[in-house]
Parts: sequence; C-alpha cells; structure tokens
Amino acid sequence: MSVLEATDVTKIYGQGCDHCVEQTGHEVGDNRCPVCDSVVACADVEFDVHDGEVLGIVGESGSGKSSLAEMLALDLEATAGDVRHRSHDGNLLTADYQTRRELERAHIGMVHQQVADGLDLEFTGGGNVAEQLLAASWRNYEEIRERVAELFEETEIPIDRMDDRTATYSGGMQRRVQIAKAIANEPELVILDEPTTGLDVSVQARILDMFRRIQREQGVATIVVSHDLGVIRLLADRTLVMRHGRVIESGLTDRIMEDPHHAYTQKLINSVI
Ligand SMILES: Nc1ncnc2c1ncn2[C@@H]1O[C@H](COP(=O)(O)OP(=O)(O)O)[C@@H](O)[C@H]1O
Ligand SMILES: [Mg+2]
Repeated sequence: MSVLEATDVTKIYGQGCDHCVEQTGHEVGDNRCPVCDSVVACADVEFDVHDGEVLGIVGESGSGKSSLAEMLALDLEATAGDVRHRSHDGNLLTADYQTRRELERAHIGMVHQQVADGLDLEFTGGGNVAEQLLAASWRNYEEIRERVAELFEETEIPIDRMDDRTATYSGGMQRRVQIAKAIANEPELVILDEPTTGLDVSVQARILDMFRRIQREQGVATIVVSHDLGVIRLLADRTLVMRHGRVIESGLTDRIMEDPHHAYTQKLINSVI
C-alpha cells in the first residue's frame, strides 16, 4: 500500500449540522455554514502519498491546509474521515491514545506552522530534538548527544548552539530544529506546514535546499503544505490545490504549473509570475 491513504477527511469547527458540507466549499465560495455558523475547514479530502514522493498542498490562507495537516499528524481531532498509515492496521483518526502516541513518535514527523506548537522554546535546541529520541526509548546519554549532533549536522545547524535555549535561535534555525526533530526517528512520513513562511527569502532558499537534499537522500515520503507556489514548485512531485476546504485540482506539479485546469489555479499561478 501507499505510505498514507486518506479518504473523506473532514474538519468542522463548531457544532456542525446536516447542511455544513453541502452549503460550503469552493462552489459556494465560503467555508462558513449559513445554517449553523460552523466553519468547515476541510471536507471530503482524499489522496494517497506514495513511497519516496513529496505531495504538495497549496491554497490561499484559510483554505484548510493546516487543519488537514494537523489531523494527519494526529494533533487535531477529525470530524470524520479515514486515514490509513502503512505502519498501522486501522483508521488513524479513531486510533486509541497509545497508538496515536506510538505513531507520532516513530512513524509521522511534523513540522508545525507555529514554532511554539512544535518546540519548547525554553528548552535547548538539542533538548528539543533529544525529547523525540527519549519518546522513542533512547536512554543512553552519550548516544543521544551523538544522534542529536548528527541531526544538527544533517539540518545544517551549528553544533555549538546545541545547548542554547531555542528562544535565542533565529526563525530559520528554529525551523531547522523542527525538521531535525521530525526526522529524528526516521519516520515513514514527514509533514511540513509552511516550512519557510515568515523567513527572509535567502533563508527560505537555504532551508528548502537542505530539506530537498535530506528528502532525496532518505527518500522519506513527505507532505508539504504552503500558500507559496514557489515552495510547492521546488519540492512537490504531485500537488493538491485547496480552496474553501475542498481539493479543487490535483496532479503532477509540473502539469499543474504549466497547464492548470481550474480557473482558480490559473489565478494562483498568474498572481506569482
Ligand atoms: N480553532 C479554530 N476554531 C475555529 N475556526 C478555525 C480554527 N482553526 C482554524 N479555523 C478556521 O478554519 C479555516 C481553515 O484554517 P486553516 O486550516 O488554518 O487554513 P490554512 O492553513 O490553509 O490557512 C479558516 O477559516 C480558519 O479561520
Ligand atoms: Mg496554515
């Protein structure tokens, strides 16, 4: 099977009602249900992630990308849906607490859009990465330090910063620490949510190059979420385009860039050229 198979993934913020899905979405032009005022962050989302591939998810702010990513990383409760991960029999979205913890620490690495969701800024950078190893039952202090140093090198963070508080790191370095943490236990799937948003352009380019190298070397299946088509174009083999919580177009990234079928996708592309 694929690394991940998702069907009908839906997230509604609010009480929800029978009209939520049909009265929202791209065709309607809104994600707020006119009947019960709930927000349908995403609905009926379906895709697979294959071995070694990078799947991009692109769409403007508010289109539901982070809600989807957080559900896949098991950090947000889904309203409905079925997500299969190769390492587990059954629907991840309804797995018990123990199973979710196990998946989170060993099989799915997540780089959160908000740094504070992914890292404890009061901890040292090394400590944040070590935490992930401890969760996967690493116990020997020397071995942990060695592995953390290796991960710092891999993600191009100066090793002499390992024992500094993460709050003192630059925004770019904090993203790198999140990436180091996400790949620490060699998960089958890594999810990056807006990995470069808010960083200087030159820093963005270096982080994307670094991640692209790691992804190619390790062949780890990846989902990269971004509002920035440049990021998607650089990293993603295939792409889903989201709007108002729905996937409106999907296909090979090159095809989508060169021959977008959907008027909205054309607009997205034209707005960045
Ligand atoms: N905790 C929340 N409570 C209510 N609405 C939310 C919450 N989080 C996100 N939303 C809404 O859900 C929609 C999708 O948000 P999000 O998943 O963050 O999209 P994106 O990552 O594409 O910007 C937006 O309309 C947003 O305002
Ligand atoms: Mg987001």
